Amino acid sequence: KSLTIGLIPADGIGKEVIPAARTAIEALGSDIPTPKFVDLIAGFETFTRTGVALPEETVEVLKNDCDCALFGSVSSPSRKVVGYSSPIVALRKILDLYANIRPVVSVSPSPDEPSKVDMIVVRENTECLYVKQEQQTFGEHGKEARATRLITERASTRIGKMAFELALARPRRHLTVIHKSNVLSVTDGLFRESVRAVQTKDPRFEAVTVAEQLVDSAVYRQYFPIYDVMVAPNLYGDILSDAAAALVGSLGVVPSVNAGDTFVMGEPVHGSAPDIFGQGIANPVASIRSAALMLRHLGYTEAAHRIDNAVDSVLREGQLLTPDLGGTAKTQEYHISLQKNS
Ligand code: NAI
Ligand code: MG
Repeated sequence: KSLTIGLIPADGIGKEVIPAARTAIEALGSDIPTPKFVDLIAGFETFTRTGVALPEETVEVLKNDCDCALFGSVSSPSRKVVGYSSPIVALRKILDLYANIRPVVSVSPSPDEPSKVDMIVVRENTECLYVKQEQQTFGEHGKEARATRLITERASTRIGKMAFELALARPRRHLTVIHKSNVLSVTDGLFRESVRAVQTKDPRFEAVTVAEQLVDSAVYRQYFPIYDVMVAPNLYGDILSDAAAALVGSLGVVPSVNAGDTFVMGEPVHGSAPDIFGQGIANPVASIRSAALMLRHLGYTEAAHRIDNAVDSVLREGQLLTPDLGGTAKTQEYHISLQKNS
């Protein structure tokens, strides 16, 4: 059976970095039976051209023809645009990709040395403030805006299970539950309780040590190597993983997968980077590593390993450093390097 991979570069540097992820799979994915790629569209540019940010056809092809997908980045405007809604947020919902798994790992000076930073942020992907139920009204003192923050036992439990499984598979077997239930005792309280209850229902998880940390100090404490796996509601997880990216040098190297029970989608943690788009200097490492993460999730461990190794060795030797990492390398140079490695 062949493996069909949907490619959705979307906007901005997504269009520059997703091709490098494809090259990595083509060059180093020899244990994958004939990978097939399907080009799909979505994003703000698609919206301005067609009036829809996530075309029906893209969703149908992903559901019916693809085994997995790679998503680049979208340029969502900060102002409200009538009819527009972020396609990545929608895709996570439609495909029920309830977990966003974001490993943040630094490159060690030699392959035998452990990485200084090595943690995984597990972000709940379907609810919290990202249900986007916002309203503006007029009150006694002028405009008032409200948002609904949805936390359910079901979603918190399944993300908790995912986090315990990931922690169990790592040498340290440590899980930190991130919340702010000192202030938001009802919503964050439910998240915290639901995650903790997961451990009492599966004896395998007794091997995992569990800690808790309030989200604000968690961002601070990430600076010290105390975390192993962190599990957080949607918004906190989003913020924590961008903060963690600073510890490993750049948002341009941090990958993720959006995972559900039946589908997986790789996606760099960064956005569409309009400040550097079009210059050919976007760091493709986050996308290449997202491809590896996606393949590992599907059981293609050899290909994943080869791709990660190829990236680690060029970074370790200080070759191919794009400007975000202090170098002068271009995105395109990665294509050449990956092909040489094959
Ligand atoms: P951003 O992640 O696009 O950029 C933040 C900073 O990091 C910029 O200085 C950028 O140049 C740099 N950077 C990011 N990725 C890089 C890479 N691969 N190589 C080199 N430098 C890189 O975040 P920002 O500026 O807050 O948002 C820009 C746009 O991206 C917005 O429209 C936002 O809505 C969208 N966005 C989309 C996301 C997604 O598609 N999942 C996630 C985050 C933001
Ligand atoms: Mg983000």
